[in-house]
Order: sequence, then structure tokens, then C-alpha cells
Amino acid sequence: MSAILAVEDLVKTYRGTRKTPAVEAVRGVSFEVAPGEFFGLLGPNGAGKSTTLGCITTLVRPTAGRVTVDGIDVMRRPTEAKRRIAVVPQTRNLDRDLTVREVLTFHAAYFGLRKAERESRADRLLAEMQLTEKAGVKPLTLSGGLQQRLLIARALMHDPKVLLLDEPTIGLDPQARRLLWETLSRLHDGGLTLIMTTHYMEEADRLCQRLAIIDHGRILQLDRPAALKKALPGGRILDLWVRSPEPIAPRLEALPGVLRVEKVTGTGQEDGFERLRLFVDPKDGLLDRALQAVQGAGGDLQHVSLTQPSLEDVYIHLTGKELRE
Ligand SMILES: Nc1ncnc2c1ncn2[C@@H]1O[C@H](COP(=O)(O)OP(=O)(O)OP(=O)(O)O)[C@@H](O)[C@H]1O
Ligand SMILES: [Mg+2]
Repeated sequence: MSAILAVEDLVKTYRGTRKTPAVEAVRGVSFEVAPGEFFGLLGPNGAGKSTTLGCITTLVRPTAGRVTVDGIDVMRRPTEAKRRIAVVPQTRNLDRDLTVREVLTFHAAYFGLRKAERESRADRLLAEMQLTEKAGVKPLTLSGGLQQRLLIARALMHDPKVLLLDEPTIGLDPQARRLLWETLSRLHDGGLTLIMTTHYMEEADRLCQRLAIIDHGRILQLDRPAALKKALPGGRILDLWVRSPEPIAPRLEALPGVLRVEKVTGTGQEDGFERLRLFVDPKDGLLDRALQAVQGAGGDLQHVSLTQPSLEDVYIHLTGKELRE
């Protein structure tokens, strides 16, 4: 693979102050992204996603390691690197005093595009992002979903090769999120390289061709979503929400066909219920045996489901915790 982006042994330690200790935000991250790929960084709060993006976009100075974009070292040749990349940041940074259209043309002027080109690109991107009718309004009057589309349009004004998006759907309602997914898919179909961070597994699964699962500044696993799921033991997931006077996990673990039992911290713990995820090979009668084991222990069931593994299961398997949404 001749990579459009290469991140090699990236380390970022934020220096401490007298009152706060140093933070090892990124602790040796390496990955490559192919031209035209849709790549994802999936991880919980504080995993190091924004710091990694910051190092790529030259906003954050790495402690060690190297980032190249299209063969260009971003630390050594930041101006050339920045022409090739564009960012939609986690915090929307739209200028309240400009109009929607000016947000686009000012950005292009900053990148040195000539007037005619600025105007024609603005027209095209406004149309593409369905913002033409909003061209004259102030950006902060737009809904969250439209603001996000404007940020994408702005990012694309200087015709970058790589678009980086930091948690682009956070805070959007389900419909706006879906619309944004469509927009991103369309850009990907058009040949753009996209790199997105998210802590929503569903969107990571749906959009990203390859994913790095990141936690505490390290990549735990990197592969296609389907391959990540396939690598889980057993192949199926039995999800049980149980309340029992006796410990139930050891009984379930002893059943043939049960490869692993994980207690999930997070949801379902109200009223003394605990959530167990069983990685199972669903042989004949497994479900019956599992339910009998619960009954045998005098347990109560609130929820039972047998499903294909999801990215959430991959995540639970890797970290033992739920990735809260
Ligand atoms: N400028 C900074 N100075 C000191 N520590 C920082 C700074 N920026 C981030 N951190 C710390 O570095 C760690 C990684 O933060 P980062 O923002 O990269 O994570 P993230 O995966 O983007 O999380 P989130 O989902 O909350 O956006 C966290 O512990 C965070 O508190
Ligand atoms: Mg972040």
C-alpha cells in the first residue's frame, strides 16, 4: 500500500504543571491509510483520538514519532502538508460574524485561491451540501447538522486529499446523524480519503473500511469491522441480564459451548440485575442449558438475546467495559 497518510510510533505527553501531572495521551500509535480509504479511530473519552488528529494536522506537537501526508513530513513542511489535509474539529469553530457563504470564501482566500475560483467552489460546495438557501445567513443560526455540513464544505474549499473529522456526529439527533452519514459516504464514493474519530460503534461499523480501536493512547486492534467481529471467540453472543442469589457467571462458564463470560459494567444494573455477555458457539441446546443454569441458581432473567457479535462485543472483549454512548 502506498499510503496517503502514515503515522509512525506517535507519542504525545502533555507536560504537567505544578498542580497537574503529565498526561501520556498517545503512547506509540502507528497506522497507515490508503488513498481513497475511509479509516476510523474508535475509542472512549480521553483515549487520545483528538490528540492523534492534532498531531496529523500540526495543531499538536508530538513528543516523538512521525506523520507523513502524501509523503510530506507534517512537522518539517507544515504548510505543504496543510494544503493536503482538511479538518472538521470536535468543537465547531464557526465565525459568528460571517455569513455562511463568507465562511467558505474567507477560508479559500486564506489558502490563496483566486476570487473566481473561490466563488465557483463556494457555489458548488453550497449546492453539494444543500446549503444554497442558507448562503446569506449567519452560521450560528443553523441547526447542528447544517453547521456540520458547513464545516465540511469549508474544509473542502482548498481541495484537500484527506478529510479528517473529529467526532462529526456528536450531539446530532438521529435524523441529522443519518444525513451526515450519507454525506460522508458520498464524499468517499467520490474518491476522497476520510479519517474519522468516533465513539459510536454503529457509525464506525457502517462507514469505516478499517478501524483502529484505541484506548489509553494505544491501538488495541486494527482491522476491517467484519474481521474484528469474526476474530471473537465462538461466533455468537448470548446477552443475559440476570439477578441471582448465587454467583451465576461460573455456572455459565462451565457449560459446553460457552467460551467466555464477561460481566459488562454500564447499563442494566438497576434493581440488582447484572449484564453478562457470553461468547458462545451455539451448539444444540445451548440456550436451554444456559437458561436452566440460571433457574438452577434461583436466578431471574430480565433480558435474553442471541445475536451476531457487534463492534460493541469486540470492544467489550478487548477492554472489559462498555463504550458508553
Ligand atoms: N492540551 C492538553 N493538555 C493536557 N492534557 C490534555 C490536553 N489535551 C488533551 N489532554 C489529555 O489527553 C488525554 C487524551 O485526550 P484526547 O482529547 O486526545 O482524547 P479523545 O480520545 O479525543 O477524547 P474525547 O472523546 O473526550 O474527545 C486525556 O486524558 C486528556 O485529558
Ligand atoms: Mg476528542
